[in-house]
Amino acid sequence: MTGGTADGPADGAGRRGPRRWRRAAEEALYGPEGFFVRQAPAAHFRTSVHVSPLFAEAVAELLLRVDAVLGRPDELALIDYGAGRGELLSGVLAALPDAVAARVRPHAVEIARRPAGLDPAIGWSDTPPRGVAGLLFANEWLDNVPVDVAETDGDGVPRYVLVDDDGTEHPGEPVTGADADWLARWWPLPPEPGLRAEIGRPRDTAWADAVACLDRGLAVAVDYAHTRAARPPFGTLTGYRDGREVRPVPDGERDLTSHVALDACAAAASGDGRPGVPAGVLVSQREALRALGVGGARPPLSLAAEDPVAYLRRLGDAGEAAELTDPGGLGSFTWLLQPRRAPLPPPWGVGGTAGDRPSG
Ligand SMILES: C[S@@+](CC[C@H](N)C(=O)[O-])C[C@H]1O[C@@H](n2cnc3c(N)ncnc32)[C@H](O)[C@@H]1O
Repeated sequence: MTGGTADGPADGAGRRGPRRWRRAAEEALYGPEGFFVRQAPAAHFRTSVHVSPLFAEAVAELLLRVDAVLGRPDELALIDYGAGRGELLSGVLAALPDAVAARVRPHAVEIARRPAGLDPAIGWSDTPPRGVAGLLFANEWLDNVPVDVAETDGDGVPRYVLVDDDGTEHPGEPVTGADADWLARWWPLPPEPGLRAEIGRPRDTAWADAVACLDRGLAVAVDYAHTRAARPPFGTLTGYRDGREVRPVPDGERDLTSHVALDACAAAASGDGRPGVPAGVLVSQREALRALGVGGARPPLSLAAEDPVAYLRRLGDAGEAAELTDPGGLGSFTWLLQPRRAPLPPPWGVGGTAGDRPSG
């Protein structure tokens, strides 16, 4: 980093002075010319949703289990938070039995515009419906909720990192107040120069607000995540453009993302351990998908002779399941399962106790 402390306005050429990462990323991703507002997201990255229809089928299976836990309400909400182009909702609807699909109220919460040609049954807005019962699913949303970055200076004091339009960073003011409290609780920085942390407070608030739109049911956040026991010492802020990892620059031309402190989000949404408010559960995507029937076993060779078409289809499924559950890739994503005024569905609740209860 080079020196500087201002959080300055735009100059005559429209360039802005150094500002904190949260504000810079807000403008770059969600401002009038922002990356997500302007671009068709899926053209720039590939999430589990795009890897295989098996992902939507697993979410459909989860919705059926939530439906059973809720006693099969007349209207079953399915909210996709940060829905991209609504691909997951379309896939889940296609995978559900007709009798259940007729009761489902699918809704996309998305800052970007509704894509042309989307199933008219799917609602679309930039704020969630409230007071509903069902499943809220947020795949790779929270990592795009902008956060400030802290870095310890030469004396080991955490300071906000300021950034220019071209990505050049400068040390800012020392971190104080609620941000300092958050760091102390969730991401304590040892007093060594050059350590970094992403201050996850805005994500805690965003997640708690999202969960609160459910009257009853289950909210699920899926992201690359870390917990207090193993924070990355230099943070994870990075950029993606055309599917490739690039330097994080707040220029509106690239995705800006950092892994999520999902244990802190879980605590915020469960009222910080208030008695009677159920805690969330953290499981790997590999475990979650396995529990929801995504196997990955190759079909028996004998099937190739009996029914070559079925054999090839099941071979394709096995390859896609392997990619979704790969421990070195998408399988290492974390699912936060956050119940709201209802038990967790099996195998995590109602008789089963799989998964880790985060502490905090
Ligand atoms: C990485 S994309 C994931 C898209 C989709 N869930 C998927 O898995 O393919 C994140 C999406 O979240 C949306 N988003 C970010 N913040 C949001 C907010 N506060 N409300 C609604 N959508 C938001 C972005 O516009 C973007 O489409």
